[in-house]
Amino acid sequence: MNPDAQYVAAIDQGTTSTRAMIFDRDGSVVNSEQLEHQQIFPRAGWVEHDPMEIWRNTRRVAAAALAGAQVGPDGIAACGITNQRETTVVWDRHTGEPVYNAIVWQDTRTDELCRELAGDAGVDRYRERTGLPLSTYFAGPKIRWILDNVQGVRARAEAGDLLFGTMDSWLAWHMTGGVDGGLHVTDVTNASRTMLMNLHTLQWDSEICAEFGIPESMLPTIHSSSEVIGQLRTVGSLPDVPLGGILGDQQAAMFGQACLEPGEAKNTYGTGNFLLLNTGTEPVLSKHGLLTTVCYRLGDEPARYALEGSIAVTGSLVQWLRDNLGIIDSAPQVEELARQADDNGGVYFVPAFSGLFAPRWRPDARGVIVGLTRFADRTHISRAVLEASAYQTREVIEAMQADSGVSLQTLKVDGGMVVNDLLMQFQSDILDVPVVRPVVNETTALGAAYAAGLAVGYWSGTDEIRANWAHGGQWEPQMPEAERSRLFDGWNRAVTHSFDLA
Ligand code: G3P
Repeated sequence: MNPDAQYVAAIDQGTTSTRAMIFDRDGSVVNSEQLEHQQIFPRAGWVEHDPMEIWRNTRRVAAAALAGAQVGPDGIAACGITNQRETTVVWDRHTGEPVYNAIVWQDTRTDELCRELAGDAGVDRYRERTGLPLSTYFAGPKIRWILDNVQGVRARAEAGDLLFGTMDSWLAWHMTGGVDGGLHVTDVTNASRTMLMNLHTLQWDSEICAEFGIPESMLPTIHSSSEVIGQLRTVGSLPDVPLGGILGDQQAAMFGQACLEPGEAKNTYGTGNFLLLNTGTEPVLSKHGLLTTVCYRLGDEPARYALEGSIAVTGSLVQWLRDNLGIIDSAPQVEELARQADDNGGVYFVPAFSGLFAPRWRPDARGVIVGLTRFADRTHISRAVLEASAYQTREVIEAMQADSGVSLQTLKVDGGMVVNDLLMQFQSDILDVPVVRPVVNETTALGAAYAAGLAVGYWSGTDEIRANWAHGGQWEPQMPEAERSRLFDGWNRAVTHSFDLA
């Protein structure tokens, strides 16, 4: 490590934007730059991103973050990458050109294909090996769709000319040289979201790849989450900075929240919600609709696993209210409007835009608003939008308690929506447990920075990471039990109306 290095950098490539952040040794934010990218919806249920736009944005935010922090590459000890998981890119190794847009994790076009792959064995056919049910959510079926539907692509893949990557691989390849010797790499956490990696061996599972019809030559090399993978060469102004870590964004948030011991959990409120519980060195298979996933792996140490409850739509419902209905002009307005209503007025909004993920896994579900009367107005709908995040979180927590036998004492939260006081209070009320957030809410980027910094010795070990976690706010339950039960019962009845609509 360069002895003059004062800071660590992280690239956080999310569903709606790309961010570059610079952190100091205390884990405090020194500077941050962010650019949104276009959300492409070619048909109902399809969601795409332009990978080239994302790579351009990455270079720009990296350069701007460094310039704003008034630091050159010598001042950066290492850089980490964290990313929206499962989103799938296939590109030409000789030209760097994607063969198709990135297919985003929320996209449901592979529904039929997943049913075919499940066959008589059912959606849990690969659960023991991968920890996952067959679902449109994961990368494997998306790769297969590209191979089957984009002209000429299968032959090019079989000839070894094409590469697959989740967004971490796409960026790492470009950042380490692109067509000029870029490294085709990923980490165990991202690989665990493809349905192609065996959770026990942490290697690609040749049998599953063959059954999916995916040539293994397309797949990146799997690294741990924290090790020096190579040197950056072509990103912004970061030449020769070591690429020290890669983590899927939800796993990075576990790191940023210092959930490093078995039994520790966090809930991130992003475009969706993702609740992860650290289960230690053994993968625990869920019987209640959760996923088993790699939490992280530091260098040669044994991998740590997590149970995960993934909720597809929470924050993106607020965006939908803004962009598709125009009820609000900006996301924070949803809280202002919701506060004008005394309660939800009997209105429930089930945002099953990508079907329902955990714990129900209903690809046939679609969004519904129920309980409307002439009394209902946009204040009640705004309230129902916020409440939907809290009800879905309760479903996932109940599943997690049923799987682990451990009851939650407090819920650690982070992500964009935790600035919403009304939602956080309601979350605590509907769960009947305290909700607590850290001072640094950017836990995703911070987690990637920690992984990269640990790899080069900028931080001495995980004790330093734990010591950096500082309490930033807390909400206590205030709702009477009868009210809590009445509302959650209303939600459960509302959800049944979203089924069989696809
Ligand atoms: O699995 C999808 C998840 O990684 C997306 O995270 O933060 O981009 O909504 P985010």
